[in-house]
Amino acid sequence: MSATDRGLLYGDGLFETMRIEAGRALYLQEHLARLAAGAQFLQIPSLPPGDLWQAVALTIAANDVAEGSLRLTLTRGEGTGPDPVAEAGPTLVINVRSGLPYRKEQYLNGFRVRLASFRRDSSSPLCRVKSLNFLPNVLARREAKAAGGDEGLFLNGEGNLCEGAVSNLFLREKGRLITPPEDSGILPGITRRMVMDTARGAGHEVLEEEITPARLGQAEEAFLTNSLLEIMPLVAVDERPVGRGVPGPLTGRLMELYRLRKGAARR
Ligand SMILES: Cc1ncc(COP(=O)(O)O)c(C=O)c1O
Repeated sequence: MSATDRGLLYGDGLFETMRIEAGRALYLQEHLARLAAGAQFLQIPSLPPGDLWQAVALTIAANDVAEGSLRLTLTRGEGTGPDPVAEAGPTLVINVRSGLPYRKEQYLNGFRVRLASFRRDSSSPLCRVKSLNFLPNVLARREAKAAGGDEGLFLNGEGNLCEGAVSNLFLREKGRLITPPEDSGILPGITRRMVMDTARGAGHEVLEEEITPARLGQAEEAFLTNSLLEIMPLVAVDERPVGRGVPGPLTGRLMELYRLRKGAARR
């Protein structure tokens, strides 16, 4: 990669992280669609989807990864200065890794989250894009870890909870699932959408509504989602238990339904 790649100099690029299962990238089509939408918004010239599919398949095969994770990074390519003029065309990097970063005990215990000390600006169009400007997320994670937590949680400017540092938020209230709406400052997660569809398919009501910290505090249970975590029970916020302070029954049921659904998607 060039030392003047705009991804490196300005975070001028996008990325996607996905699971590899049975030697294939899970929900690749959905991840490439989000990448394409982000590229269109930032006016980064992307590569034809067929080329990306092929590059992903070749990288997984060349590294012989059966179960693990894949990160696809697309930058605007070489160039200096704030005005993006990509002379050299985009840069594509694909990293694959065997094994997953989360352990079984973490799912049994659930995540303890910490509120970030700073807020998400829900008016920024960049919230919706998985851009290389990831420092707020890194900082929120670092704060959470330093306080003994597993994940950071963001409030937006209106004082509502929007998402985790690397995850989307769900809670159960009066039997219904609630998740913050897309305009609240979240990345519209692929797993979030899959979980909403899975829950609705199983007859559960799912609503996109603002979630105040008090509402989460009174929830029956809660969980976080992302492509590598999939569904992780959330059991405490800033040391205050959520629900009974243990992984909830609907969370467990959705974890199982999600597993079945992705098994079907893989075939
Ligand atoms: C800020 C943020 N929100 C939500 C998510 C979840 O997105 P997905 O389910 O597409 O992995 C991620 C994923 O890393 C993220 O970084």
